[in-house]
Amino acid sequence: MSEKTHITWHPPTVTRRRGCVVWFTGLSGSGKSTIANAVDSLLVEQQLPSFLLDGDNVRHGLNASPAMLKEVHGEAFAQRFGLGFQAEDREENIRRISAVAELFCSAGLITLTAFVSPYRRDRQLARNHVEGQGSQGDFVEVLIDTPLEICEQRDPKGLYKKARAGEIRGFTGIDDPYERPDSPELVLKTDGQSITDLASEVLQYLRDHGKVDRNTASI
Ligand code: ADX
Repeated sequence: MSEKTHITWHPPTVTRRRGCVVWFTGLSGSGKSTIANAVDSLLVEQQLPSFLLDGDNVRHGLNASPAMLKEVHGEAFAQRFGLGFQAEDREENIRRISAVAELFCSAGLITLTAFVSPYRRDRQLARNHVEGQGSQGDFVEVLIDTPLEICEQRDPKGLYKKARAGEIRGFTGIDDPYERPDSPELVLKTDGQSITDLASEVLQYLRDHGKVDRNTASI
């Protein structure tokens, strides 16, 4: 039992095969969500258990902003638990997600996450958490390596334009850093490759590393 919290870890009695966490990282507009969705579709087609945790969606619920929480929970609560985009908020965003992803992984799902996750330390902590509960290889970091210029040209949500105009402060790649992974398991370049090809590449990695069975439709 932890001396400080009076909370005791209760080891589960049921053992099941762990899934894995495929952690997509990259700039906003790099293609993380699109590729992760395509991987999810391929897994579903093959009747493999999977789930996608997507930054923009998770920030509507578990990691809602102070503005979203305020109406129901009040100002003080919203300030305490709501998340924005300052370094500490991003740290907490990624901490919560790595905890959820680990739970899904322990339930046997191939868990896909699509978050900018710009800080190396936060991604390392996510890896430590997932692999610490399981084993090395459970965390697959995938860098979606789309140059800033391309992301900015695409600008699917018009956010780069706003960031350049100073309407959004602390936007990753513009006036907030993106720390590239030193040694991700996979690097995907999105120019000139179809989404299906990129998704297949991820699936091939999972097959090659025993996360998806080579022959049968099971993990
Ligand atoms: S993270 O940095 O904490 O990992 P997350 O992936 O959850 O970010 O959310 C990123 C998405 O929020 C972006 O794709 C973009 O749509 C939106 N967004 C809004 N403000 C910012 C900002 N300041 N920096 C980056 N993304 C932002």
